[in-house]
Amino acid sequence: RREGKTPLPNKPVLLVTRCLPDAVVERAKRDYDVRLHQQDEPLPADAILAGAAGADAIMTAPGAPLKAELLAKLPASVRMIATFSVGFDHLDLPAAKARGIAVSNTPDVLTDATADITLLCLLGASRRAWEGQDMLRREEWVGWNPRQLMGWSLGGKRLGIYGMGRIGRAVADRARAFGMKILYHNRSRLAPELEQGAVYYADAEAMLKASQFLSLNAPASAETDNFLDARRIALLPDGAIVVNTARGTLVDDEALIAALKSGKLAAAGIDVYRGEPKLHPGYLPLKNAYLLPHLGSATVETRNAMGFCALDNLDAFFAGKDVPNRIA
Ligand code: DGY
Repeated sequence: RREGKTPLPNKPVLLVTRCLPDAVVERAKRDYDVRLHQQDEPLPADAILAGAAGADAIMTAPGAPLKAELLAKLPASVRMIATFSVGFDHLDLPAAKARGIAVSNTPDVLTDATADITLLCLLGASRRAWEGQDMLRREEWVGWNPRQLMGWSLGGKRLGIYGMGRIGRAVADRARAFGMKILYHNRSRLAPELEQGAVYYADAEAMLKASQFLSLNAPASAETDNFLDARRIALLPDGAIVVNTARGTLVDDEALIAALKSGKLAAAGIDVYRGEPKLHPGYLPLKNAYLLPHLGSATVETRNAMGFCALDNLDAFFAGKDVPNRIA
């Protein structure tokens, strides 16, 4: 936070497209002439355009996309877009760049929270947590039973991590504490101090063949779109468990649902979906799908830190300094 710092002299006008945590709003109001959005649903495109008239910057987030068509219509007053997220698949960076609009994101501050939720998904799926909850809430539990809801241990198993950036590495740290052996695929091999003994696979498909558990931690991109399709699912060992806390676009939903139904995959833990907030209806009846509604960064501490990080980026821009997390 800009504790003790003097407010910016002429407050820039900041349009906000999502309802932000109170502490973030408070700081934003101190330093900016803020046009807040108070509803949980994102500000629709037409309201973004109307609200952007005369604005200097926009703080947006997943759910309120700023793609080429909308960017082209923004007034020339808008000089910066700060997204309240590490992911930027809701933005069109080349189009922003072409218009001379600076763009920033919020890496690092959500690494731990997202890695934590990945472990929750690994455990939720492998220990059949949803089935247990459901049994209790339906009042169908008839007592402890030696064969009841037996899941699969993490200890000693091989976890393949697709995408070994900050979050992938934080997942690896946590999974090691559960006794898992780490394999990873990344565009380039990491230095030994970052690898921490994890086994690098230059070929993602070779890694899949060895992955009893698979965690998807790569960003959405043309390269990762539909990465986990039917052909690649077939490469996983029978009974593998898949976790996705990155982006829904990495997965071919039909293929994953078919594999969960057939038993090719024992279970899946999923926090993110293609076309959020809608998800493929085929997931809903599946007992072996442990489903969360994109909660990766949803802790009070993390969401505040994301907001402060987005504001730090804006502050730097309007103070004429280098923007710390500039992505365009
Ligand atoms: C991000 O920051 O990209 C997350 O998905 C939001 O939690």
